[in-house]
Amino acid sequence: MSERKLLVTSALPYANGPIHLGHLVEYIQTDIWVRFQKQRGNRCYFVCADDTHGTPIMLKADREGISPEQLIAQVGKEHLADFTEFGVAFDNYHSTHSEENKLYSELIYTRLREGGHISSHTITQAYDPVKAMFLPDRFIIGDCPKCNAPKQYGDGCEVCGATYSPTELKNAVSAISGEKPIEKDSVHYFFNLADFADMLSEWTKAGHLQAEVRNKLAEWLDGGLRQWDISRDAPYFGFEIPDAPGKFFYVWLDAPIGYMASFKNLCAKQGLDFDEFWAKGSNAELYHFIGKDIIYFHALFWPAMLDGAGFRTPSAIFAHGFLTVNGEKMSKSRGTFITARTYLDHLNPEYLRYYFAAKLSAGVDDIDLNFDDFSQRVNSDLVGKVVNIASRCSGFISKRFANVLSADCAEPALFQDFIDANGQIAEFYESREFGKAMREIMALADKANQYIDEKKPWLIAKQDGKEAELHAVCSMGINLFRLLAAFLKPVIPKLAEDTELFLNIPPQAWPSGAQALLSHTINDFKPLMTRVEADKITAIVEASKENLEKTAEHPNPAAVAKPKEFEPIAETIAFNDFAKLDLRIAKIIKAAAVEGSDKLLQLTVDIGDETRTIFAGIKSAYAPEDLEGKLTLVLANLEPRKMRFGLSEGIMLAAGPGDKEIWILSPDQGAVAGMRVK
Ligand code: MSP
Ligand code: ZN
Repeated sequence: MSERKLLVTSALPYANGPIHLGHLVEYIQTDIWVRFQKQRGNRCYFVCADDTHGTPIMLKADREGISPEQLIAQVGKEHLADFTEFGVAFDNYHSTHSEENKLYSELIYTRLREGGHISSHTITQAYDPVKAMFLPDRFIIGDCPKCNAPKQYGDGCEVCGATYSPTELKNAVSAISGEKPIEKDSVHYFFNLADFADMLSEWTKAGHLQAEVRNKLAEWLDGGLRQWDISRDAPYFGFEIPDAPGKFFYVWLDAPIGYMASFKNLCAKQGLDFDEFWAKGSNAELYHFIGKDIIYFHALFWPAMLDGAGFRTPSAIFAHGFLTVNGEKMSKSRGTFITARTYLDHLNPEYLRYYFAAKLSAGVDDIDLNFDDFSQRVNSDLVGKVVNIASRCSGFISKRFANVLSADCAEPALFQDFIDANGQIAEFYESREFGKAMREIMALADKANQYIDEKKPWLIAKQDGKEAELHAVCSMGINLFRLLAAFLKPVIPKLAEDTELFLNIPPQAWPSGAQALLSHTINDFKPLMTRVEADKITAIVEASKENLEKTAEHPNPAAVAKPKEFEPIAETIAFNDFAKLDLRIAKIIKAAAVEGSDKLLQLTVDIGDETRTIFAGIKSAYAPEDLEGKLTLVLANLEPRKMRFGLSEGIMLAAGPGDKEIWILSPDQGAVAGMRVK
């Protein structure tokens, strides 16, 4: 068989926010697959980049008073640091704001235009007269035209589910300036997707897609393909369109081209041949791992763009589902919107890699991170089954046999069973059935433990004249452990590497033809992995809630505008939920600084029938002595929260942009403490 050449990508994360555990499902999934390919001896390149263009990034930089270039440089660094610590090993991590990307975006656009696939016409759009810019639908907020729900985005209502155009919103305002938008005309450029209807219809049936995705695409194709608007007016952070001054490529045009750009950048670094992977007729394999929310862009627009510009199309698109935490959508207020950094502050990244592997399949089903299940699986599988084999056997090898393994393999048949399992395990990895691969490997770990349980080396060790048997059994255990580490290497590379150091062996290839280590000297055993501690998980959830407090201290009108089109505004609550809120006027009896905190004040408040302690992050705006005796609004039935400084038994409601301007006090001193507010 000729050597396989693979180019693999993960979707490019937006450069306007931190990497979170949801993202990591994808990057870890891709990384496992890539590591597997490399371990098998295939030539495989894994590239990615930050997705840096578009309105949300431009506005975020604006708010932070820095240039978009500064913002994306900073975020790019943070993203790469997070990935690296999670063991996600890109061969190249680049940026869509790069020379290479500009070059290929212009090239692809020009070829599409020359092929007659670009048209232009005037459209009317909402325009912010204060900010002097056109407003994406997501940056217009108003009342739903169907159900009157307030604060809905321009493209649809989160309350009644209606979809509409932003011009239909009632009392619409710009999320950026708060001003009423006006309507304004502008010329836009469009990609004629329908020119590729036949090509796409064939391509989607030709084995490049998962069954569920193929069905979705058939629906879209049957519904007819509309022109795709690929231009945006200045001001816009992106690439200006050649021959169209003041017009920029829409971020989603240059984003997938970022895959090419990152690879081109790698080619320059390593002297690789770009065309070998991208030219029409290339025999290299090209795979894109993506989340199910961006299938449309990858399975319709992208192959059409590539085809229209004379490049090869992807070998396959691998879509995955979304991460939920404890069965629910990740939620900031529940502390389950966990960033990569917060996780890394408390837990070993390989726990999460293993857990995701155990839950992943080749389908697009959502996957759930359940904290109890997480601890239990990691503790029982990795620590209890796998590492335990090494710790049970290595003590005797070190104390009794000077760290030298026996000269013969005690159970060649058992060893061979492990080797023979490699084909099935490899098939599962190859087809992205990681959960099945993990079950197969854990079944082998069970077998190894059974062997040790039957032989009982701890009893043999106490009998005279049984040295050889003790030596044979423990050496056998070590040899089986070594194969387990080889099988698990794509998933837990750090543990695999530590195992190689412990066993004093070179990096393990895929063990299809491995021989037992005989008369081989190993090193002293050091604990390879410890158990998940429950309090670490609690700490992560708490820290994630604190992250929320930090952002809540700096509310900003533009912060309500979400970066991603199709993303919901926020979780809405039913009226019944709202009715549960016990909002009260409270009298501040005592206010004091909190030692060790530069943000918090400790308040004692009278809410009518009792007094409560509340910690509030308002020190930047109020001196304690200004508060005593004054009235404020609190939510009295919030579940008490244990904070580092004590128990907080409620929360204060405030208005204002933060810092010096946080307004918590009732202007009406005639209100009475304990009065309910509804
Ligand atoms: N920038 C675009 C992708 C451009 S690719 C040419 C984007 N960025 S993203 O940061 O929003 O998402 C990056 C990837 O992470 C996407 O594939 C997305 O589906 C995935 N995920 C983001 N949140 C996720 C979960 N909660 N769960 C699983 N995957 C998630 O989309
Ligand atoms: Zn509505």
